[in-house]
Amino acid sequence: MVTILGRPGTVVVTGGASGIGLATVERLLDGVADRCAVLDLRPDREVVGRLAERFGTDRISALACDVADQDAVAGAVDRLAQAGPIAGLVNCAGTLLAKPSLDITLADLHRLFDVHVAGSLFAAQAVARTWIARNEPGAIVNLSSVASSFGWPGRLPYPIAKTGTEAMTRTLAVEWARWRIRVNAVAPGTVDSPLMAEGRRPPGVKPIEEVVDRHALGRAAAPSEIADAITFLLSESSSFMTGAVVPVDGGFTITKDSAKELTR
Ligand SMILES: NC(=O)c1ccc[n+]([C@@H]2O[C@H](COP(=O)([O-])OP(=O)(O)OC[C@H]3O[C@@H](n4cnc5c(N)ncnc54)[C@H](O)[C@@H]3O)[C@@H](O)[C@H]2O)c1
Repeated sequence: MVTILGRPGTVVVTGGASGIGLATVERLLDGVADRCAVLDLRPDREVVGRLAERFGTDRISALACDVADQDAVAGAVDRLAQAGPIAGLVNCAGTLLAKPSLDITLADLHRLFDVHVAGSLFAAQAVARTWIARNEPGAIVNLSSVASSFGWPGRLPYPIAKTGTEAMTRTLAVEWARWRIRVNAVAPGTVDSPLMAEGRRPPGVKPIEEVVDRHALGRAAAPSEIADAITFLLSESSSFMTGAVVPVDGGFTITKDSAKELTR
């Protein structure tokens, strides 16, 4: 078994019961990490049962937890840390809101900010405390999105939250480097996951397919393709990377429709 960071431990994956988080858990348990712990609002018993069957019951645990609840996250991470060292954190918990900007409320802004920015910070604080207390290094990977860098009509709170995630990634990377804690982010393009299915039928805004068509590769990613990049950023192979936001976007950010037309 190749352990990430060159030492054994549990990788905590928030939002690990679905989509990119679930694919990351599968990728990590497949010879990369000793154990994974899923923190999710709804850790589906069937999903966790299948993971336990495939990888071993002692290698996977799941806790129901709202990452936007600072005390709940701290408590969950404390419980995990008592059982053994934590080797990494992946912040995949997230949600999307499709709504015209004219109708956005404070509650809408909070809903997205609380899970993406506050939730990622609270999980990061909790694991960082365990590393600092044990004088151990650590690696954190946050989930941004290409949505932070283009105008996406009808999804305003989401790009605001993802821009916040990127700013937080850079600040924590600098602030926590003294404790050998690396903090990076991936910025995926469209990924075929339940999150995107949820955004497919937004009232009054354009369908998600319009965005998919703007990737240079002309398709959405499979969650496993994002999990591979996340695994790299957790591993010793990225030991000199911190504060980076890595696009994993099928060329979305560098594609112009006209240029794409020239190649087809
Ligand atoms: N799917 C995409 O196209 C895409 C693209 C770019 C970035 N992302 C980001 O990747 C991350 C994962 O997205 P996904 O596509 O796998 O979504 P998903 O909906 O498949 O999974 C998200 C998981 O987060 C959990 N969750 C939601 N709110 C939570 C909370 N408050 N506390 C704990 N868990 C919570 C959900 O229960 C779910 O299991 C998100 O941050 C998302 O914004 C997704």
